[in-house]
Amino acid sequence: MPQVRFLGHSCVTITEGNHKLIIDPFITDNPKSPVKADEIDVNYILLTHGHGDHVGDAVAIAKRTGATVIATFELANLCAGEGANIHPMHIGGGHNFDFGRVKLTIAHHGGGYGPDASRYTGPPVGFVVTIGGKSIYHSGDTGLFYDMKLIGEMTPIDLAFLPIGDNFTMGIDDAVKAVELLRPKKVVPIHFDTWDIIETDPKSFAKKVGSMAEVVILEPGGSLDV
Ligand code: NI
Ligand code: MN
Repeated sequence: MPQVRFLGHSCVTITEGNHKLIIDPFITDNPKSPVKADEIDVNYILLTHGHGDHVGDAVAIAKRTGATVIATFELANLCAGEGANIHPMHIGGGHNFDFGRVKLTIAHHGGGYGPDASRYTGPPVGFVVTIGGKSIYHSGDTGLFYDMKLIGEMTPIDLAFLPIGDNFTMGIDDAVKAVELLRPKKVVPIHFDTWDIIETDPKSFAKKVGSMAEVVILEPGGSLDV
């Protein structure tokens, strides 16, 4: 059974046996991160989009550990240019890796790398990661979209990571609707409370989701068996 750990903001690790994945390793500049970037030991780094609060320490971790960066063709090649091993993919495409399967889904958001986000990194994405017999959906930064229903129909989701912080992504009410469309067994809210602008109350989200899914509110550093 895979185990996930929330490292604050949108950063999560997925571990199953010897397989260690990290999604959106925003660590050094994350005021809520419970770890240091040089403590991270992974085989794969999945990036949802090119914004700094998602790419974060990806290239440094990739170069130190030899981990492979999985991202869109554009973002992966940008990371390759900085010295990372990469596996480029794109929306709608899935691939079987040694740990399991990754499929890229749409997300509605921006994508740009660098201090002024000026380097083109392709469209943002979400991931469906199937590992150890479980399927985990990380939506990345996105607004609500009706095709979430299709994502849940094509791959029944055991655990979904969904943003609730509003302003840059879905807020609580749209994230509740996302749960209704996706029908995951468990949900972990992300992308909130990192800064004042995305402060919100995850307990209110849990209350509104009600019996549709089990909402697990993880503090940065908290973990969960999927
Ligand atoms: Ni973003
Ligand atoms: Mn973000």
